[in-house]
Amino acid sequence: MLRYAKKINNKLNLILSMRFRELFNYFRPYGFETPDWKIAEEYGLELNQIIRMDLNTSAYLPQRWLKNLESKISTLKISQYPDSTYRDLVEEISRYAKVVNEKIIPTSGGDEAIDIIVDAFMDCGCEAILSSPTYDYFRVSVELQGGRIVSIRRRADFADDIDRILSSINDKTRIIFLCSPNNPTGNTISYNDVITILERAPDIPVVIDEAYYEYCGKTFIELTETYDNLIIVRTLSKAFGLAGARIGYIVASRETVKLLNKVRPPNSLSLVSIELAKIALKDSETVLRNARKIVKERERVRELLSTLPKIETYPSEANFIIFKSREVAAKIIHRKLMQKGIVTRLLDFGDGETYLRVTISLPEHNNKFLKLLEKILREQI
Ligand SMILES: Cc1ncc(COP(=O)(O)O)c(C=O)c1O
Repeated sequence: MLRYAKKINNKLNLILSMRFRELFNYFRPYGFETPDWKIAEEYGLELNQIIRMDLNTSAYLPQRWLKNLESKISTLKISQYPDSTYRDLVEEISRYAKVVNEKIIPTSGGDEAIDIIVDAFMDCGCEAILSSPTYDYFRVSVELQGGRIVSIRRRADFADDIDRILSSINDKTRIIFLCSPNNPTGNTISYNDVITILERAPDIPVVIDEAYYEYCGKTFIELTETYDNLIIVRTLSKAFGLAGARIGYIVASRETVKLLNKVRPPNSLSLVSIELAKIALKDSETVLRNARKIVKERERVRELLSTLPKIETYPSEANFIIFKSREVAAKIIHRKLMQKGIVTRLLDFGDGETYLRVTISLPEHNNKFLKLLEKILREQI
């Protein structure tokens, strides 16, 4: 960490003759996903050979919604800003998520939702608690506000260590981040654990990121009626297949939403994305049907994965699975898959073990991945 910080600091000193934030002495930026064209260049592939199984996005391209959008696009008052209350979109989210309008804030993706929450609660020099490994943008957002991450290692089965989370709370704690299902481990948090945290830390904002909610059907939204300190983050980037549209939302109590509205940017959603999100939310049955197909595929892939030699898989309630080989380094598998255009995510949990995360895709893609993995293992073992 220090070596890395020194490296970027020296680099910045060379490049930038202006003053930059102290933060850059230690800050590790978000690991941006490699774009298709770069993968193609590096591995000598055609763009159409690349199958992204590393982004946890949906393989279903919502053509019908895009056609519908096309018919509406010429009527959009694009020379004007969107309605700053996003009223029509809020209505659709309200219907879908079964919460009243006053408890909803639409955002430009889940990431902006996280930023808004951090902007509202994190003071410089204060702390946020999270269970590691988890979605890295929590850390990025907190550190950009001058906050510090208190990272609590998950238990062996990847469950949140509630006792250690609770005992880590101090005067400086400003946020507790939970993620259910958790990216990258795929497990959900139990109802009892959430209640325990909310009850024992009533003055600390508790964020539950439900980006993968549609794949598990478990939500904590109804608890926002009882607990002002609970804030739910959702996105249309995963099961809705709209990662490119950048739409997410926050659900919290009316009072908490009032506070969060004080810090959110006024116009971060585009009119075009709002229109597409409205079309999509009206057709949530299709989304849930596709999510069920992915869940079925996930179980099939997991079963086949576990028949491969010396492969360990873990249960998942999201649209991805993590696995590791007891024999072949994850790095080698990752590279060999990449050479054939199958992109998976290489994960280092810092426990000396590396894992791979694969996003469940269409059956033909999943089969290609499984066949290739089997071949790689056969060659390596
Ligand atoms: C847990 C979690 N939250 C939020 C996001 C970001 O979602 P969005 O595309 O809506 O910003 C991701 C994306 O991978 C995620 O895994």
